[in-house]
Amino acid sequence: MEELSLTEKIGLLTGADAFTLPALARIGLRGLRTSDGPAGVRGTNMDPADRSTSFPAPIALAATWDPALIEQVTREMGREARAKGIDVLLAPTVNLARTPYGGRGFESFGEDPVLAARIAAAYVRGVQSEGVATTVKHFVGNDSEVERWTVDVRADEATLREVYLVPFEACVTDAECAAVMAGYNRVNGISMTEHEELLTRILKDEWGFQGVVFSDWSAARATVQTALAGLDLVMPGPDGPWGQALVDAVEAGLVPESLIDDKVERLLRMAEFCGAVGAPGDPAPALDVRKGPHARRDVVRQAAARSFTLLRNVGEALPLPREIKELALIGPNAVHPVYQGAGSAEVGPAVTMSPLEGLRGALGGGVSITVAEGCAHSYRTSGPDAECTEDPVDGGPGARLEIYDEDDELVYSGIRPNSELTFWDPLPEGVAANAKQLALSTMYTAPADGGYRFAVAGIGELRLDIDGELATETIAPQVNDPMEVFSQPFESGVERDLRAGQRVRLTATGRPGDYEPGFVRFRLAAQRIRTAPELMGEALAAAGEADAVVVIVGPAPGEESEGYDRSTLALPGRQDALIEEVSAVCPRTIVVVNSGMPVLMPWAERVSAILQIWFPGQEFGLALADVLTGDQEPTGRLPVSIPRTEPLVPVGIAKPHEGALRYEEGLSVGYRAYARTGIDPRYPFGHGLGYTEWDYEEVQLPVGPVHAGADVEIGVTVRNVGPRQGTETVQVYLTRPVDGVSALAAFGRVVAKPGERARIRLTLPARAFAHWDESRHAWAQPDGAFLVKVGPSSRELPLRGELLVG
Ligand code: BGC
Repeated sequence: MEELSLTEKIGLLTGADAFTLPALARIGLRGLRTSDGPAGVRGTNMDPADRSTSFPAPIALAATWDPALIEQVTREMGREARAKGIDVLLAPTVNLARTPYGGRGFESFGEDPVLAARIAAAYVRGVQSEGVATTVKHFVGNDSEVERWTVDVRADEATLREVYLVPFEACVTDAECAAVMAGYNRVNGISMTEHEELLTRILKDEWGFQGVVFSDWSAARATVQTALAGLDLVMPGPDGPWGQALVDAVEAGLVPESLIDDKVERLLRMAEFCGAVGAPGDPAPALDVRKGPHARRDVVRQAAARSFTLLRNVGEALPLPREIKELALIGPNAVHPVYQGAGSAEVGPAVTMSPLEGLRGALGGGVSITVAEGCAHSYRTSGPDAECTEDPVDGGPGARLEIYDEDDELVYSGIRPNSELTFWDPLPEGVAANAKQLALSTMYTAPADGGYRFAVAGIGELRLDIDGELATETIAPQVNDPMEVFSQPFESGVERDLRAGQRVRLTATGRPGDYEPGFVRFRLAAQRIRTAPELMGEALAAAGEADAVVVIVGPAPGEESEGYDRSTLALPGRQDALIEEVSAVCPRTIVVVNSGMPVLMPWAERVSAILQIWFPGQEFGLALADVLTGDQEPTGRLPVSIPRTEPLVPVGIAKPHEGALRYEEGLSVGYRAYARTGIDPRYPFGHGLGYTEWDYEEVQLPVGPVHAGADVEIGVTVRNVGPRQGTETVQVYLTRPVDGVSALAAFGRVVAKPGERARIRLTLPARAFAHWDESRHAWAQPDGAFLVKVGPSSRELPLRGELLVG
């Protein structure tokens, strides 16, 4: 520190570019490389030559209720980060699913702070065990997306302390996370990057956080307030509110130099943790994850299968019996599976295993599988399928991308595998930043007679030519959040009739204008038009012939995303009708829900089985086959309550009013909100069936009173009364005397063979008995009689007992 000038020190405190931190060769510090998570390690871009493992979405990780498994899974993430030369993972996201409308709910660990805290701490430990730093985000109150850059979250002290701060606190105090990311939003009137109370007093002083406070990308807007409040690092760089402005502020006496030293010390501590000090030069070489260790693919597949949550299973519809000879695989998500949620969490997957591939492999040649889309789930144009495209310059599948600069000079020409371009794609240095005009062209061959839809999507001025003639021309409207452009770019299209084998030349042209230099989003789409009756007819014909139907439904890709919230919880398109009609034709109808957050299930009582599979990541199909065939028991339990209808969502408002979002429900989020309002969820928090059944036999509590402020050990005995070995997640809820609030206090897994008993010891942490005393601004650990309730979900708690504290 003593060797560094003030300018050098402050120079370290703003990113060198979008995802890299500054290097300082003089002290042997190389530039740390960061990458988004939390559903994998994207890398600093989505280089097709350097793909990533797509892990199950964090909501799925939470659905395992298994911190030990999560630690194993995220250790693989840490290894992958190392192999890709990444030092700092921008993950996990520990904001809560306060409402099912949250666009980033799939990135969260659900609605309950205790479950989220246990899973989050395990996540941090796993990644950090490989010497990769984690950045726990977004501190705090960034639980929905509308107006996320400015929204003022109004929450009282107890609500912050007992709900929203809990997972952050666990990551700091139990798992020693290396970094925390301050969010875009405000809390009680103050921007999170300027929030001294939260950043310095609580996070650093009270919890003893030794790591680095990052700004969320472009969240730091002020110079002095951010520096004084406890922000340590401004991202991205190289511009931003610090740099010379902060040097001037220190020299003018507005910011003490000791504060700068503290920030630099934190940064160097993190760099040391990542092995970036005294090791100048580039980190480990990139590894091709397609050829990567099978162990990683196995772990990801197992985690996905374990996260699948069986909500309903009547007449032993699952696992599929061996006698099945004809299986119909129906639904838009069967044909267009959604592997991941959208936004910065997306990775370029190394491989993707579709449901059909998975089931074919598992069921073998003896079972015939018919696939039918049934209905569309998106009004956007998909495709084109690679086999219908040809690069007009060199031939071969794909599309030709040409980029022109402001002088209309061709500065780039290359082939793209999938006729789209995003700002995360690598292009030669400076090309994207100077792109004045982009053109994607392909020779498209119609696979059948019929109507086709061709479209161009992106930002700025857009144009589509078919066989050299203008087909459509438009200017994309401005959007609220850049992520909206990424996940659901504005599109303009036309329809044409083609004969099978007919070839057309498609050229999409885009002029991004001054949207944001370097930010590109552009795609050319082509899709055969199928009418609703045609699609439904095919599905019903397939269902009529089948011994069992698996209907895979869910949102379209990009519907659950960073940057905006969901506008409805209903399944898009005609999916509800599809399920109703198919289940009327085939008695063994298994609905598989491929969504990050809950969807409405008006058909729930009329189908045989419902399996919630979240966004399972790249091994989707293999994990699904494992569970449907019974090779793997679905051991997931809901980390979020599933509502019956939209009016029956107790916390349904994510939209700020005059800039403020009031957390009026206080502690009553998730299942606590259902309990307080007396509303029945469709499926409660904690619910999930397996392939066997359990009796809850006994809860053993300590005899006599226990000390206030101490952890309490209890024992629970359950018995497997079903037909096969299984795993049960035992849940313990505690009702406190002070206000009658009942909340999850502990949980754990047992495994037992048929007929066997299993006993589990669980620790109710002292914090489970505490509440935040607003008048003393401190935790209170009162005496009194606490009610202990034990069972398989937040609504089914057959074992009860009283615990006397004091
Ligand atoms: C997101 C962060 C992400 C960052 C970098 C922001 O818009 O909120 O979660 O880590 O971008 O991509």
